[in-house]
Amino acid sequence: MPRALSQSPLLRACRSLPVSHMPVWFMRQAGRSLPEYRAMRGSGSILDAIARPEIACEATLQPVRRYGVDAAILFSDIVVPVHAVGFGIDVVQGRGPVVEDPFRTKADLGRLRDLELTDIEYVTDTCRLVTAELDGTGTPLIGFAGAPFTVASYLVEGGPTRTFLQVKSLALREPALFEALCDRLADLAIAFMSAQVAAGASAIQLFDSWAGALTPSQYERFALPPTRRIMSALEPLEVPRILYGLGTGELLALMATSGADVIGVDWHVPIDAARARVGGLAVQGNLDPALCVDDHVVALDAAREVLARSGERAGHIFNLGHGVLPMTDPGVLADVVALVHEEGRAGVGVPS
Ligand code: CP3
Repeated sequence: MPRALSQSPLLRACRSLPVSHMPVWFMRQAGRSLPEYRAMRGSGSILDAIARPEIACEATLQPVRRYGVDAAILFSDIVVPVHAVGFGIDVVQGRGPVVEDPFRTKADLGRLRDLELTDIEYVTDTCRLVTAELDGTGTPLIGFAGAPFTVASYLVEGGPTRTFLQVKSLALREPALFEALCDRLADLAIAFMSAQVAAGASAIQLFDSWAGALTPSQYERFALPPTRRIMSALEPLEVPRILYGLGTGELLALMATSGADVIGVDWHVPIDAARARVGGLAVQGNLDPALCVDDHVVALDAAREVLARSGERAGHIFNLGHGVLPMTDPGVLADVVALVHEEGRAGVGVPS
């Protein structure tokens, strides 16, 4: 690993090592909250923008330039692999991923063939462009994929859902079929993230955004086994592995057994309580994104509370508890970054 990257506060915090300053980045830092993104975006599906490496590279770098965050997150989406193998999925602006012909029966497994490198050349091209631009700056690129349960929820429901009715009933009524689906999705996630790492990503995040819809026993039965398989398949790549889900307070201890190095935490659980639940693992989070939309004082007060709860122990990456909301004033997030860099104490010592 290049020397500048080996000193990266983000990569060091993932391993609970001392850092020169506390690292911070924001889930969904790229995209609609940035005027420079809206100016570039145009209309059409986000999947078309993702398939253009120059555009995707620029969208990845915009928040790094603007905020001085400690990581870039690849401009892509959790549905890119299933789209790339031709499952039949699109992302509708203002709504999210939509599937015309949802996953229903065993025959639908045939719509999820293996992911070939040639299917996602635009993603690896983007990773190479981004890491060439970041070369020497010490800022790592985080690659990512969607976790099987979360991606399955879109394929089975046919779109975003509040109830997770279809996906839960498929899992409970036809567990063997649901497990087969999640296994296929695990293979896709492994291939997708391995390709990103080979093309320059130096950490990965697995988004199980909707895992909080499950009870602990459902999580343990359906979501954890494929997540474990993904984490262990990525272990030889020697990049830190972050596992995130929304509303997962009761699942944190189980998530900590997945093989991930870092557990992402939303704002429902105080960060010190979350740390106690994940044992020795590092944590990432957990400022409420709704408090960052427009009021600087509200946002900074809430960020100070996270920092106070975090204390001095190494192994905390500052982030939001979920993604940046589209109506967020970027000036508020810029202030949060400055605050974390100035006042964050977690792991701050002399880096070795
Ligand atoms: O800064 C970044 O994080 C950019 C990269 C990124 C995108 N999607 C680009 C995108 C990442 C990490 C994602 C992950 C993602 N996609 C998740 C997990 C994170 C989370 O929020 O829990 C999920 C659940 C999805 C599925 C998805 N894609 C949704 C729910 C939406 C929003 C729909 C909408 O328009 O409100 C998308 C679309 C999407 N993906 C956008 C971006 C920038 C916005 C749409 C656009 O610009 O057209």
